[in-house]
Amino acid sequence: MALDLTPEQKAAGKANFEQASGDLARAGKMNSMAVGGAPANAKDPDRRDVLKAGLAAGAVVPVSAAVYFGYQAWKGNTAVKTALIGTGDEGGVLVGDHNPEFNEIVAVCDIRPTNLKRIVEGESEVRKGLNRLYGKSTAAKIRQYKKLDDLLAEKDKLGLEAVIVATPLNTHDIIAKKCMDAGLHVLCEKLMARDVSRCKGMIKHAKDKGVLLSIGHQRHYSTLYAQAIELIQNGLLGDIKHIRALWHRNNSWPYNKSAFDKNKFAEEYGIPYYVDSWWKAVPTEDAKELTPDVLRSLGFDDPEKFGFKDVAELVRWRCFNKTGGGLMAELGSHQLDASSIILGHVHPLAVQGVGGKFFYGPDRNDRESDDSVFVTFEFPGRNYYKRDNSGHLVLQNGKPVPDEKGKDDIVVVTFTSFNTNEFENYGEWVMGSKGTMFLERESDVYLWREKDKSKKGDTGGRDTRITVSSAGGGKPALESTSTWGGGGGSTSIGKTAGGSGWDSAVRGYRTEMEHFAFCIREWQKRKQPVSYEKDKDGKLVNADIIPRCHGEVAMADAIIALTANLAMEKKERIVFEDAWFDSEKPDVPETKHGATKT
Ligand SMILES: NC(=O)c1ccc[n+]([C@@H]2O[C@H](COP(=O)([O-])OP(=O)(O)OC[C@H]3O[C@@H](n4cnc5c(N)ncnc54)[C@H](O)[C@@H]3O)[C@@H](O)[C@H]2O)c1
Repeated sequence: MALDLTPEQKAAGKANFEQASGDLARAGKMNSMAVGGAPANAKDPDRRDVLKAGLAAGAVVPVSAAVYFGYQAWKGNTAVKTALIGTGDEGGVLVGDHNPEFNEIVAVCDIRPTNLKRIVEGESEVRKGLNRLYGKSTAAKIRQYKKLDDLLAEKDKLGLEAVIVATPLNTHDIIAKKCMDAGLHVLCEKLMARDVSRCKGMIKHAKDKGVLLSIGHQRHYSTLYAQAIELIQNGLLGDIKHIRALWHRNNSWPYNKSAFDKNKFAEEYGIPYYVDSWWKAVPTEDAKELTPDVLRSLGFDDPEKFGFKDVAELVRWRCFNKTGGGLMAELGSHQLDASSIILGHVHPLAVQGVGGKFFYGPDRNDRESDDSVFVTFEFPGRNYYKRDNSGHLVLQNGKPVPDEKGKDDIVVVTFTSFNTNEFENYGEWVMGSKGTMFLERESDVYLWREKDKSKKGDTGGRDTRITVSSAGGGKPALESTSTWGGGGGSTSIGKTAGGSGWDSAVRGYRTEMEHFAFCIREWQKRKQPVSYEKDKDGKLVNADIIPRCHGEVAMADAIIALTANLAMEKKERIVFEDAWFDSEKPDVPETKHGATKT
């Protein structure tokens, strides 16, 4: 959070976001909010259910995730029998937040014995573990596998319908394709794959096999992001010229060896000199089982190039270029994903940046992946025009520009991430001509009005409370009501909006898994394989029962992250090409600009 904001200014920003959401909802302009007394959006029948439930006249609450994401008709379905493949840190988070009414975990699979134990026992409020979620006796019946092939061989016995894959980046496409071959629907963690041709391969495989492929960029399923994006789409921020995304962490304290139980960890693989959350200790139990031969047999098309050399590479996969995609893949991809959505589901035009191993090195943890990245993207603004194949100016969506007068409307999106200072931590600042929005740590949103200096006495800025007007039937606009302390009209928004800490509907993990299950059941009801058919405008015909972050959406995020890595490595400004984003075309950034270091 910015250094010079007082607690009162933060409170004003938070209240402003709630006020604006409420005002827009009452004007019938928000799908993510419900209003008591009158339908906010008569088109949506489910709002009537909300209203029937007795919302007081004028009161505004966020609609439930199920209603907003379109799976409120779940009742009567049985849970989808699901296996979790990869029971490490993220697997633990997903299990901890899944809803057994939608996804019943019937099996888990991991090559690391320590992580198989961890998923059962759990370790924290976030990673609750199967014992706590299902009860010990039921959890004991959840089958455990050390090999994916063994799990797949028993899929019919298990009644398996779907898998959730939370394994390292270099394994995603191999595991996902094997599961699709077995007829299973796949929810795979991000980043989609280690290179763009592998992403295209995964999309083709899902189409050929007629199964769902969802990728875990959870912001697509966050009710808080949904509200924030609706506010932006209503034009409240005006002309957006800059998004500043950041993910700053401090992983650099000298390592204290005595803090670890020495016998527990395989010392031959080295323990870190400096704390580095990516350079983890290797448990002795894993080291014993996972010999290089075992690791080579995991099904990589080229094990020497893409596989794990030894158990340390498996445990520390984020630290190596062939197994991970660095800070852009791990952190930046989420925030560039959000930026693309905020700007109207557009792709960036160009990227350049500086990245490197500026802190770690031979005398510290000598990992390969960059510990610092500072990247600048050029995104198309609302009035950005490009030339079509016949040389005519068209908008990003291909619509013609009547007077052929182009405009260089660029939104600059910066992403910074490094390891030695966590002062502002993480979030996205969206800066428009009429207002500023800050999405903080996936859990809070703030809104401030930009002062209109052409109007005498106009108040704006950090202390000012706002309402939203649509005077004269015009577009919604932020109006100052008073400075902080004077109140700004009343809105009662439920806890979900702006709620801090862990809120499942806000975080998006739970809702992404629930919607995945809903889509599976809906396709089964149709008794036909999943179809990714598109209409003449290129839109998915069955979009309502395809996961929101399906293959093509997630491939765009991978292209953005991986091309940023290329730009930093080659020290070039790289222009994105439309054909890269077309899953049916063979064009990929690696062919033109060379693969990143492997
Ligand atoms: N969406 C998010 O916010 C988010 C957050 C963190 C991680 N992730 C993603 O989740 C994935 C996993 O990350 P993590 O932090 O859990 O890593 P991790 O190293 O803690 O866990 C990965 C697990 O996969 C297992 N594994 C590797 N190859 C396997 C195979 N062939 N078969 C079965 N198991 C195998 C490993 O043994 C390990 O237990 C990554 O793609 C990561 O980018 C997403």
